[in-house]
Amino acid sequence: MKKNLAYDAYEQLADRYAELVDTKPHNAYYDRPAVQSLIGPVEGMDILDAGCGPGVYAEWLLERGARVTAFDASDKMVEHARKRVKGRAEIYKADMEEPLDFLAGASFDGVLSALAVTYVKDHAGLFAEINRVIKPGGWFVFSTEHPFFAYRYFGIKNYFETKRVCCDWDGFGGSVAMPSYYHSLGSIADALSRSGFLIERIVEPKPTEEFREADAHGFEKLMKFPLFICFRAKKTGGSVK
Ligand SMILES: C[S@@+](CC[C@H](N)C(=O)[O-])C[C@H]1O[C@@H](n2cnc3c(N)ncnc32)[C@H](O)[C@@H]1O
Repeated sequence: MKKNLAYDAYEQLADRYAELVDTKPHNAYYDRPAVQSLIGPVEGMDILDAGCGPGVYAEWLLERGARVTAFDASDKMVEHARKRVKGRAEIYKADMEEPLDFLAGASFDGVLSALAVTYVKDHAGLFAEINRVIKPGGWFVFSTEHPFFAYRYFGIKNYFETKRVCCDWDGFGGSVAMPSYYHSLGSIADALSRSGFLIERIVEPKPTEEFREADAHGFEKLMKFPLFICFRAKKTGGSVK
């Protein structure tokens, strides 16, 4: 299997990420409450967690009675996720830049992907694969970097152009160079409609009170400018041209 864009970075920080993810403010008190607010009851449903990392969402879904399948491209993240779910979910190693051939069509009621689609250049290709594995009427919920944040942070010159970017992450042990892609808001929305999804909701998260207690300065910043953006989309009958 060829290495995906962020493979080396996630292999370096997987252990520390797995240790911190339950209480790291940007994950626990900013991304997760917003993403979870977009997911209704899951009891008895088949749910896919795409780019599952150490499995914190997979575990949350299991606790709510879902049957969970998950995958990630990082060997270490897959190991952590398997440890966390203790055999209660199927965890695969797979790259979402490639076709998801190991998953049958129309096999999931919902697909969740938290903070992972930013590592994929071709959103339309990925979203079409995700659409394929969702049952008719099922949902796709995902979070990613907010385009307005990325536009400013990476000093993007052409707002409309999808572009590979890189920055240093210092929050998980030593400094790790983290590559990803910048995508405009319109390109994310277009990729969803061209892949047969109808956007139902967009959430620009706000940090919770627990975030304020853990990091007052970060809280003030996130109350004024978005870092992530979350979508809930529904599988429709066909693609919107
Ligand atoms: C920020 S972490 C999020 C993990 C988890 N969803 C969470 O919220 O805790 C991003 C994850 O995406 C995975 N990832 C990055 N590129 C990927 C790809 N092409 N295919 C599958 N997983 C990928 C990384 O290995 C990493 O585990």
